[in-house]
Amino acid sequence: MKSKAIINVDMPKGKINKNIYGHFAEHLGRCIYEGIWVGEDSPIPNTNGIRNDVLQALKNLKVPVLRWPGGCFADEYHWKDGVGPREQRKKMINTHWGGVIENNHFGTHEFMMLCEMLECEPYICGNVGSGTVQEMSEWIEYMTFDGESPMANWRKENGREKPWKLKYFGVGNENWGCGGNMRPEYYADLYRRYQTYVRNYGDNQIYKIACGANVDDYYWTEVLMKNAGRFMDGLSLHYYTIPGNFWLGKGSATDFTEDEWFITLKKALYIDELITRHSTIMDKYDPEKRVGLIVDEWGTWYDVEPGTNPGFLYQQNTIRDALVAALHFHIFHNHCDRVRMANIAQTVNVLQAVILTRGEQMILTPTYHVFDMYKVHQDAELLAIESSCAEYEHRGETLPQVSITASKNGEGTVHISLCNIDHRNEAVVDLEFRGDSLARKQVFGTMLTANEMNAHNTFEKPDAVKPEPFRQIELGQHTLMAKLPPMSVVTLAIVENKAALIERQ
Ligand code: AHR
Repeated sequence: MKSKAIINVDMPKGKINKNIYGHFAEHLGRCIYEGIWVGEDSPIPNTNGIRNDVLQALKNLKVPVLRWPGGCFADEYHWKDGVGPREQRKKMINTHWGGVIENNHFGTHEFMMLCEMLECEPYICGNVGSGTVQEMSEWIEYMTFDGESPMANWRKENGREKPWKLKYFGVGNENWGCGGNMRPEYYADLYRRYQTYVRNYGDNQIYKIACGANVDDYYWTEVLMKNAGRFMDGLSLHYYTIPGNFWLGKGSATDFTEDEWFITLKKALYIDELITRHSTIMDKYDPEKRVGLIVDEWGTWYDVEPGTNPGFLYQQNTIRDALVAALHFHIFHNHCDRVRMANIAQTVNVLQAVILTRGEQMILTPTYHVFDMYKVHQDAELLAIESSCAEYEHRGETLPQVSITASKNGEGTVHISLCNIDHRNEAVVDLEFRGDSLARKQVFGTMLTANEMNAHNTFEKPDAVKPEPFRQIELGQHTLMAKLPPMSVVTLAIVENKAALIERQ
C-alpha cells in the first residue's frame, strides 16, 4: 500500500522554533572533557582550549542553544569553583557520573566563550538540590550585571569586562530525582523562592525554566502549573527512548534484533502522547500558551559500550538512532505551539551523541546527519499536512510506516522531510501540493539510509552512514511521488530553480 499526503503550502500552522534543534552538554564522561574541552596546551588542534574539529562540526549544524552544566551534575555544581585562574580552581568529585575528579577547568567563562564561538544561546541550569538561593542569585549577577557590584567586579578581575547575555536559565534539574528527590508541592514552592532572585539586570531578560516531569508524571505538571505556573516561562520534560528496561538491561546500541528495532521506534513515537497530555494540563492553566514546554533531555539510552565506564554513558549510534531523531523532530514540529525548545542528550560522547571522539579523531553519527538535513526547518513555518500512511507491521503489531513534516522558510522555499521506519520494505509516498504549483520548481533531495539495521560509523569507517543525493522522485504539476528505501530519512527542497538553491547555500 502507498502512503499519501496533501501538503497545504498556503496553510502555515506556526513557527518551528529553531531551539527545537538545541543541544545539551553535561559534565558527564567524555562530553565536556575530551569531547569539547581539551585545554589550550593540548596536542589536539584547539581554539582557546575548545577542539577545532568538534567546533566546526557544531557550527555547521547551526546549534541554536546549548544547555549546560547538567543534568544531574547541575544540582551538585558550585559555579564559584569554576571561575578564576584554572590552576587554582577547586577540584570536586563528580558523584553522579563515575565518581571521577572534576578539575573545574571548564567553567562559566569557558562555556560562555563556547557559546560565542558557536553563535548560540547559552542555557544554564542552576543548582537547587544542593545550592543556595544566594549562590544562584550571585551567579546571575556575575554573568549579567553591568556596573559596580561584588560579583560583576569579580567577573572583571577574571578577565571579562562586559556582562554576557543570558536568556535561558533552568531552576534545577530533575528535582523529583537526582536533583533532590522532592515532591512536586515542595519543589513548586522552592521554585517560586529561587526564581525570585534570578534577576533581570539592565536589558537582560531571563526566560526562567522550571523543572518539569519525568516521562508520564502528569501529577507533577499539574502541581507545577497550578502552584508556580505564573512564575515561569518554560516547564521542562525529560523522556528517553529505551528499548529495554532501565535497570535490568536497556539493550545494546549496535547489537539488536528486529524486535528491538520495532520497539525502539514505537517508544520514540510515544513522545507524541507525552507532549499531548502534558500540553493538555498546561492548557488548563495557561490557555494562551505563554509557558513553553521545554523538552530539554531526549534521545536514546542504551547499555554502555562494552568495556567502557558504566558511569560515562558512552554508546554508539546507528541508522536506528537517525530514525528516532527524525521522528522526534516531526513530533516537535507538530507541537510547535507549545514546544519551544528541545535539547538532545547529549552533544558529544554521551547517550545519543551527534559526535564521537577518540583521542584526536572525531566521527559524525547518523544522528548528526539528521540534525544537518533538518536544520532547514529552523524558524520556518510549519505547513499543514493531511496524510494516510501505509502500515509497518511486525509480529502482528503496526506503526505508521512513514512520517512526514513540511515547512516553508522566509524565502518561500518548501522543505519536506520524510522517513520510512520499516526495516524491510520500501515506502512509496504520493504527495499532493495544495496552494502552489510545482510547474516551475526543481526538487533537490538528500537521503540517509543503510542496508543493515545496525549500520553505524566507526573511527575506522567514519562514512559508513552518510547523506547522499536522493533521486527516487517523480514530479508532476501538483504531485510528487517519492520512493523511500527501508530505514531511510529524506529531506526535499522545492525551489524555483537551481540558481536560487546555489545562491542560498
Ligand atoms: O543525560 C543523562 C542524565 O539523564 C542527566 O544528567 C539527567 O538529568 C537525566 O536523568
